[in-house]
Amino acid sequence: MQNLDQIAEEAAAAFAATDDPDTLEQIKARFIGKSGQITELLKGLSRLAPEERKTAGAAINRAKESIENALNARREAIRRLALDARLASEALDVTLPGRGEIRGGLHPVTRTLERIEGLFRSIGFEVADGPEIEADFQNFTALNTPEDHPARSMHDTFYLLDENGKVAEDILLRTHTSPIQVRYMQAHVEKFSHLETMPEIRIIAPGRVYRVDSDATHSPMFHQVEGLWIGENVSFADLKGVIADFLRRFFESDDLQVRFRPSFFPFTEPSAEIDVAFMSGALKGRWLEIAGCGMVHPNVLRHVNIDPEKYIGFAFGMGPDRLTMLRYGVNDLRLFFDGDLRFLRQFV
Ligand code: FA5
Ligand code: MG
Repeated sequence: MQNLDQIAEEAAAAFAATDDPDTLEQIKARFIGKSGQITELLKGLSRLAPEERKTAGAAINRAKESIENALNARREAIRRLALDARLASEALDVTLPGRGEIRGGLHPVTRTLERIEGLFRSIGFEVADGPEIEADFQNFTALNTPEDHPARSMHDTFYLLDENGKVAEDILLRTHTSPIQVRYMQAHVEKFSHLETMPEIRIIAPGRVYRVDSDATHSPMFHQVEGLWIGENVSFADLKGVIADFLRRFFESDDLQVRFRPSFFPFTEPSAEIDVAFMSGALKGRWLEIAGCGMVHPNVLRHVNIDPEKYIGFAFGMGPDRLTMLRYGVNDLRLFFDGDLRFLRQFV
């Protein structure tokens, strides 16, 4: 059976000549398939004499085994070739330019808040915080506005319901950031109770506040930035200086008029509203109220155990949404909170 070696060599050569898996299987059929050359030889064994059959059978099986080994080796090689080709074709070119995502940006009011914080930090104010769901005591009573005080109706308050669906009178959505004054002063007094004279309080407190209010300059959810400076010798002149300087730096303009209009708040005395008007540009000559302010009322200081004979100071509550309107020349403040990307994208 000399040609067995030839057949095995021929098979190995044929396997090596292809790198296509289907072709490989077809070649296999030619040698060891149902009617392949080797298979036919095995079938022919029955025609041999018994003594020849044994040696011939062993030789044919060796050839078959060698063909199978060659086949398996080639199968494995082809599989690897295919994998390499796939890896090469799927490679990422990390040097290609990007496809361009739409870029997000900060909300214009957020920008204003960050700007306000930066400006006040630069003159030594710290930034404080407080809850949006507030106790009646902090929002009104401690601010010298007891229960039947007419000033309560200045704010149209959102109250919360209790578990029986009744209005919970002692808990509400804060109508201004002024309760943070109370919270901060209480904590400050406690922290420095061991000192003869407490350090000055100089904070701003930005946050969301809520009122039943809606028109071009009022939104039911809006922002305020509270300011508070308490020390042994802080005057109304300091208040005016801080505010005027802030506004010039905020708007990067001297083309601005600021007026302190006498007003009333239960928690300050005297009190004023701060109005701003530009002297040129689209909003020329239109006054817009941007804050309330005043000297902190002695009763408020007493409520938090600060001696009004020793300490004095001012507070203000500013409307950053209004400042944003003025800065960008927007005529309806509610646009900021409608979530319309066509509007908001202009500020990115
Ligand atoms: C107050 O809320 C006082 N707590 C301010 C204050 C603080 C006075 C400390 C004295 C001492 P007023 O209601 O005026 O005051 O609101 C202050 C500012 O918030 C307004 O000048 C305005 O800029 C802004 N504001 C008020 N209501 C709205 C609203 N619905 N939407 C947008 N901005 C508002
Ligand atoms: Mg006001």
